[in-house]
Amino acid sequence: MCGVVAVLGKENASQLVVEGLKKLEYRGYDSAGIASVSQGLLQTIKSEGKLVNLTQKLHRSTKEKLYLNNSIAVGHTRWATHGNISFENAHPLTSENKIAIVHNGIIENFEILKKDLTSLGYNFKSKTDTEVLPHLFMKYIKLGNDLLEAGRLVLKDIKGAFAFVAMSVDFPNQLFVSRNSSPLAIGLGDNAKFIGSDAHSIDHLTQRIIYLEDGDHALLKINNLDIFDKDYKKVSRKIINIHAEIGLITKGGYNHFMEKEIFEQTVVLPQTTSSFIKNKSEIVIDFDKFGFKKKQSLIICAAGTSYYAGMVGKYWIEQIADIPVIVDLASEYRYRKPSIFGQSSMLVISQSGESLDTLMALRYGKELGLKTNAIVNVEGSTIDREVDYSLYTRVGPEIGVASTKSFTSQLVILFLIAVGLGKRFNNLKTFQIKKKCQLMNMLPSAVANMLETENQIKLVAKNIKNSKSVIFLGRGLLYPLALEGALKLKEISYIHAEGFAAGEMKHGPIALIEENVPVIMFLISDGNENKSISNLQEAHSRGAKIILIADKKCIDKAPFAHFTVEIPDFENEFQSSLSPLLMSIPAQLLAFHVAKERGTDVDQPRNLAKSVTVE
Ligand code: F6R
Repeated sequence: MCGVVAVLGKENASQLVVEGLKKLEYRGYDSAGIASVSQGLLQTIKSEGKLVNLTQKLHRSTKEKLYLNNSIAVGHTRWATHGNISFENAHPLTSENKIAIVHNGIIENFEILKKDLTSLGYNFKSKTDTEVLPHLFMKYIKLGNDLLEAGRLVLKDIKGAFAFVAMSVDFPNQLFVSRNSSPLAIGLGDNAKFIGSDAHSIDHLTQRIIYLEDGDHALLKINNLDIFDKDYKKVSRKIINIHAEIGLITKGGYNHFMEKEIFEQTVVLPQTTSSFIKNKSEIVIDFDKFGFKKKQSLIICAAGTSYYAGMVGKYWIEQIADIPVIVDLASEYRYRKPSIFGQSSMLVISQSGESLDTLMALRYGKELGLKTNAIVNVEGSTIDREVDYSLYTRVGPEIGVASTKSFTSQLVILFLIAVGLGKRFNNLKTFQIKKKCQLMNMLPSAVANMLETENQIKLVAKNIKNSKSVIFLGRGLLYPLALEGALKLKEISYIHAEGFAAGEMKHGPIALIEENVPVIMFLISDGNENKSISNLQEAHSRGAKIILIADKKCIDKAPFAHFTVEIPDFENEFQSSLSPLLMSIPAQLLAFHVAKERGTDVDQPRNLAKSVTVE
């Protein structure tokens, strides 16, 4: 989603901003731009599409001396919300070529503001909500306000979720920033200041970071930083020393980040496990902190893949710990007036820690009086900072837009929460706890074995690459995986895909079956497999192309399948307890190889953003 970077007080600021924008590319965007002030002039360069288009333009302009050297610059990668993908709608947006704004979020009351500004003679060149910001700044500066005062008046006018930076030719050594629900980090340098949508985007410039809190605004000067809270009270926010992640963010010999992230699961999952299992069977989760002083229900909120992880978590926690779990889409939770009867604890799940829907659900849970916990990958993210208790997946940066290693690592923690709660409320005996922890330790080699299904998966990918629609089926623990498999396929290959609980097919979705529609089922011998095979048979009788990803015993029971992917033989308990973890590997590989066959942009699929910071 939109990315913001700014540099103040360094030579070649525009170039440094572009380097920061490159680090935000993974978030997803469809246009980009930069602006700087030099010799009293505001210069703006923008382009549609990838950053390479912007850098080429910048390069040409610099060569032809059209673009001047500068020590202040702002930059932006835009993920279109209001207004289509176009040069005009790309940021920075300007007013009278004197003010430039880069903005992440949505100004909800922009229509009324635009009407007022138009009546005052301001000319709108874009269809964005953002363009009200430069014109509002212009209006207040013309009235004699300095940048800080103008910024404060703008903040009084606007409603919504935002993080923005304002730069003005009238104040060439200052930047004004503010945030409300959208992420923003300020970096401190020697005689320089930096701004980024995340700390990583400026970690080539500094490792000293301050995160603004919601409602904060700040005035940055080369040698000074003043931060104010929403009541204009001067505040100091904690300086955090971060570690540059530059070395970690490479494709490591793979052609795509997603491919690398699928294959590194054997290495990163033990990182997750080892921080939660000590002395072989001790689960290191503080359930008092978690809000489980006594046995109560748990509410889980998340979005997308993290939501599907939550669904698996519900099955595990109910089965293993006998604790009722409600799983809700974060985007629905706070708008549906949920009852918290019987609940004391909320768990949100988020790779980025920045999904606005999830953040809002978390804040709402807090308001309702719940203890809030998060399974989160990005330490220091907004969700991590606001929650009462964080459980880190620790799988390193995930750059591919499609979530892979974060899904499996979220599952690892959810399984351990189930076991830990089972222990706490005496639902498990000591030997059972030990056994379940042992299962977790077997995971890396099992994942390595599952990765060996790749050649079989490639054949399936070739066969379904031209399908118009694909159906995924699963039952029990593999039902959420059917949903996840379908999401993964549609988001990176753009093939329409739906996941269903196998038993639900006959209640409606079976009407979709026609000759050669691929029906992909994840199946494991868990005692219920015969029921699922009957569901598959029903699809087969209506002409579907049956693709079965299963263990040998299940495959033998379904000789009618057109394609099979045989998964390795694992111990029964391991296989049936951890089936969603195991089967997520072929689900990820399948989406990846279909996308490759179709030649789509695997790591940055169209229209998608890694970090979804609008509601
Ligand atoms: C799918 C995917 C998204 C995210 C969702 C939540 O592959 O990546 O569906 O899972 O946007 O993101 P986080 O986990 O960062 O809150």
